[in-house]
Amino acid sequence: MPPTNSNNPMGVFDSGVGGLSVLRSLREQMPEEAVIYFGDQGHVPYGPRPLGQVRDFSEGITRFLLNHGAKIIVVACNAASAAALTHLRRTFPDVSFVGMEPAVKPAAEHTGTGVVGVLATPATFQGALYASVVERFANGVQLMQDTCPGLVQQIEKGDLDGPLTRGILEKALDPMLQKNIDTVVLACTHYPFVIPLIQRIVGEKVRVIDPAPAVARQAKRLLEANGLKRPAGGRGEVRFFTSGDADFVRSLLPGLLGEEGAVGQLHWDGDKVLRGEWLQIGD
Ligand code: DGL
Repeated sequence: MPPTNSNNPMGVFDSGVGGLSVLRSLREQMPEEAVIYFGDQGHVPYGPRPLGQVRDFSEGITRFLLNHGAKIIVVACNAASAAALTHLRRTFPDVSFVGMEPAVKPAAEHTGTGVVGVLATPATFQGALYASVVERFANGVQLMQDTCPGLVQQIEKGDLDGPLTRGILEKALDPMLQKNIDTVVLACTHYPFVIPLIQRIVGEKVRVIDPAPAVARQAKRLLEANGLKRPAGGRGEVRFFTSGDADFVRSLLPGLLGEEGAVGQLHWDGDKVLRGEWLQIGD
């Protein structure tokens, strides 16, 4: 593993474009940092997959990011955090990880009606992380959960507002509105891209929680604590990689992230090894 110092990039990954909602906040708070972003479009969606398989993918991706000098790993995916965070911390004990945790705590603290909606994928609801967050923080608040089947795929297509996307969200949110939710927790990093549509469905009085800014703050704290923060000033480069269609991913970047970027092509060799034309990058 290459030695890490403050000039090295942050490694960020997700099953696809979802992690770009986290990258957006990372870029806002730490524009000077360089980033390597990997989207596993070859395997998206993670949500319906067995946790063990998502764990293997996450380990392979982490190895790829570390081999390219990542100084910290941001698991910008709730499903991968649920399936793999404990395993990753154990497997790479010298590496700092930041993961996604469903924002049940702030939701339970601030709800007035005592009813909160949680939107996530099946992997996130199945993992021990969600159960532990609920046990520690729900505090008598009623949580209404929905997995929004098909929503991740719609967002991967770039459809943030079409009839099918709207239909999936209405089906999830209408029963929640009938029970008087006043807060919606987004526990899938793809979902912040449809916040404008969610807000139109639930109305302006319902608060929608995107955890990305808090996750970016946590990454910043960790870098500072480890002496790995780049000095402010300038703009770090972002290198994107995908196991899917690189041209298509590149076409989505301006709309989702507000930045252009080259996208490198990787492919999987089994569930744990990524290969591609990228080996010179960052070496
Ligand atoms: N963006 C992901 C998450 O935060 C994964 C979605 C999926 O691939 O199912 O859970």
